[in-house]
Amino acid sequence: MNIPDKTTCLSLMDRYEMLPNIKDHSLMVKHIAVFLGKKLMEKGFDLNIQLIEASALLHDITKTISFKTKEDHAYTGGLLLDKLGYHRVAFIVKQHVFLNDWDVNKNIAEEHIVNYSDKRVMHDKIVTLHKRFDDLKIRYGKTQEKLERIDKMFKKTIELETGIFSLLPFEPDRILDLA
Ligand SMILES: [Fe+2]
Repeated sequence: MNIPDKTTCLSLMDRYEMLPNIKDHSLMVKHIAVFLGKKLMEKGFDLNIQLIEASALLHDITKTISFKTKEDHAYTGGLLLDKLGYHRVAFIVKQHVFLNDWDVNKNIAEEHIVNYSDKRVMHDKIVTLHKRFDDLKIRYGKTQEKLERIDKMFKKTIELETGIFSLLPFEPDRILDLA
C-alpha cells in the first residue's frame, strides 16, 4: 500500500497551494482522527494509523482550487491522489463528505474515522456535530436543496457518531479534554 508520510503530505499541501486556514483545519482533523484511531486500536480494531494520518492531512487537498472552479473537492481530491498513486488515501478522501457506507458495526474502517473527525473540527477548533452543522448550514445552505442535503448528512453523521462511540469507552464530548 502506497501511503505518503507526513513530510510528503505537508509538501503536497504546499504544492497544491492550500490556504493557511485549510492547512490548520487539516492538521486538527489529523490530530483527532489519529487519536480516535489509536483508541479504537486499543479496543482491538485493525486500523492503519499512517493511512488515517495521510488521509486526514490531504482530505481537503483540492478545496482551495474548488473555491474558484466550484468542483466537488472530495471527488477531485480523490482523483488527484489516485493520479499520484495513493489509491487507498484517494478512496478515503473521496468519502470525506459523504460515506459509501455509514454503518460502522459491520466493519469500522479508516474512512469512517476521517469523515467523522472532519465533522468535529470547525476551522481549527473541536466542536460538537450540532455546532459544525449549524455553521455548514449558514455557509453552504443557500438553497432549499442544499439545506436538505446538509440535513441528511447531519442525520447520517449522528448515526456514525453513535456507532463509533458504541465501540469506545468515552463520550463524544470528551474528545476536547482527551485528545
Ligand atoms: Fe472537505
